[in-house]
Amino acid sequence: MIPSPQECLDIMKEYNMLEHIVRHSLLVKRVAVCLAEELNRAEEDLDISKVTAGAFLHDIIKTRSIITGEDHAKAGGELLERLGFNGISEIVRQHVTLDNEIISPTVSEIEVVNYADKRVKHDKVVALEERFADIRKRYGDNEKRVCLINLSEHNAIDLERKLFSRLSITPGALFTISLRVRDSSSCPIKGRGRNNFPNYASHLQAIFARSSSTKSSK
Ligand SMILES: [Fe+2]
Repeated sequence: MIPSPQECLDIMKEYNMLEHIVRHSLLVKRVAVCLAEELNRAEEDLDISKVTAGAFLHDIIKTRSIITGEDHAKAGGELLERLGFNGISEIVRQHVTLDNEIISPTVSEIEVVNYADKRVKHDKVVALEERFADIRKRYGDNEKRVCLINLSEHNAIDLERKLFSRLSITPGALFTISLRVRDSSSCPIKGRGRNNFPNYASHLQAIFARSSSTKSSK
């Protein structure tokens, strides 16, 4: 079974998600659904209701895990199984780390939500580099963790290549998605060509320039 968007919002409320985690989840949902719709226009066969619910609920245990220290992805998957929503439990369980290498010729709902989560830092769409730099800063407190984060970034880059090799847009197209637009039904990347978006490479150069000028001013 797959929960409806209203059921997802009710579950998020029931589990007392912190405000900033709710905002992050709402934006991950927008990014994941836009990407899934774009992939379906390119002949993939993604179930939008699974992508929607999986993205809404991917961090359902994150707030509790701040206190308990539990693995929020694993616990989230188990919770959804218990609630009878086994149609999305794997999406939630694998939203941090995918079980398999990205070799399947088709794209799965699990991969779309996993990637969307890697492109949203708090409540803003960012490049993979910026997201992983933040993860490294917050969680990379020993060598083993840094190695795992580096591996995860490597896998995310592979996944990005796989997803966008099917599309006529670049990863930079996702920068146009935000929580600001009230009408969540309209995806800003819909029907736009490859050259109608902010340039990903120049976005990264801007980030790099910002971080170098901050460092040199310290
Ligand atoms: Fe997340």
